[in-house]
Amino acid sequence: MASVSAHPDVMEKLVSLAKRRGFIFQSSEIYGGTGSVWDYGPLGVELKKNVKDRWWHAMVRARDDIEGLDAAILMHPRVWEASGHVAGFTDPLIDCRNCKRRFRADDPSIKGTPGTPDAQCPVCGSKGTLSEPRLFNLMFKTFMGPVEESAAIVYLRPETAQGIFVNFLNVQQSTRQKIPFGIAQIGKAFRNEITPGNFIFRTREFEQMEMQFFVEPGTDEEHFEYWKAQRMEWHRSLGLAPDRLRYKPHEQLAHYARAAADIEFDFGGSLGYQEIEGIHNRSDFDLGRHQEYSGKKLEYFDQPKNRRYIPYVIETSVGADRTTLALLVNAYREEEVPGETEGRTVLGLAPSIAPIKAGVFPLVKKDGMPEMAEKVANDLRRCFPIFYDDGGAIGRRYRRQDEVGTPFGITIDGQSTQDSTVTVRDRDTLQQVRVAADQLRGYIAERVAPNE
Ligand code: GAP
Repeated sequence: MASVSAHPDVMEKLVSLAKRRGFIFQSSEIYGGTGSVWDYGPLGVELKKNVKDRWWHAMVRARDDIEGLDAAILMHPRVWEASGHVAGFTDPLIDCRNCKRRFRADDPSIKGTPGTPDAQCPVCGSKGTLSEPRLFNLMFKTFMGPVEESAAIVYLRPETAQGIFVNFLNVQQSTRQKIPFGIAQIGKAFRNEITPGNFIFRTREFEQMEMQFFVEPGTDEEHFEYWKAQRMEWHRSLGLAPDRLRYKPHEQLAHYARAAADIEFDFGGSLGYQEIEGIHNRSDFDLGRHQEYSGKKLEYFDQPKNRRYIPYVIETSVGADRTTLALLVNAYREEEVPGETEGRTVLGLAPSIAPIKAGVFPLVKKDGMPEMAEKVANDLRRCFPIFYDDGGAIGRRYRRQDEVGTPFGITIDGQSTQDSTVTVRDRDTLQQVRVAADQLRGYIAERVAPNE
């Protein structure tokens, strides 16, 4: 269990803001909701897309040693036997016969030994109603084709990584990459988690951004250290506070892993530090197993060294949803405004990942201001997501944009129609500067570009 954080617990407020302002909604809400599945609304989809774009840029486009891939969610069922998921991707599960609730066996709120008369259900309080732990596979099963029989079972992938392993040779041969090189992909993964929760932290459907870096055995340790450092730097570049990020080395390693470390973020409150990304040295386990189960050679031939081997893999695996949640938690603040009675709620998102880059406001709805404001908004919209708002007092309109993290507020006032300048308000400093309308595009572009 994580210890209570020094940072406040903002989760409840975030859930409410996310719904009210169109970031994240509960899935199938009008039917009472689907357990731990969430839908991204207009602002949420922009925010998560910006996270994924930043990852894709850093991992694929800005490098010549990593190739992109988009493998299918449904894979041959043997893949999951080879990967070990059919046999081992399980959680020990305990049922309460009285209230029908389910718990993970390691749930710290369970008192006593499940399966014995003294064990007590943490929800209904009944004694002796908890079953012995039984293993529960977290993969969702479905059927391929019209007949629902065991021969037709396929799984919704519980991680994207296996799509990369089975395409290792396709990608290597089609791109003529030489080791060391990597393959990266972003995609949905599904896990029938027993205890999901904490909003989008642990869900049953989520997106992963995974990269497998194929290296020569013996060089794996240096590549592992390199990727640990690179990935931490990436999280910082998104604006996550450095003092809320840390490494957590794994004390117990999976049997195939030679080393593993998580990058953890401090989510505040009782959730505290939790994993957002895993970096693993997976040895030649995955390619070796797929070679064994498929009967197809998955070796690499190193021509200069005249050596054939199964590469080792350094994996970086990060959740797009969990990173999005970390960014929201990191950005949320409530503060007093000097000289004003009403405080404000701000999402201090880095401009490069904010869903809307600027709000455009005519000060009043007359004297040519709306016409000019619409022209400014339409011009900027060709380059950035812009929000046009002419409703209510200007202070209110600023507040509404502060709350969703919009870094700039552009106001068209009486002077604007005279000299073609506008005011640009900075979300964080509240400073306003006058900028020529025809310079606005460059002014915003410079400030919303990622600092990479
Ligand atoms: N291929 C390795 C792998 O899947 P993992 O530690 O199980 O490793 C990697 O998952 C990342 O995926 C986690 O650090 C987390 O960000 C995200 N993730 C895993 N399970 C999740 C869930 N149920 N809901 C949301 N994100 C999840």
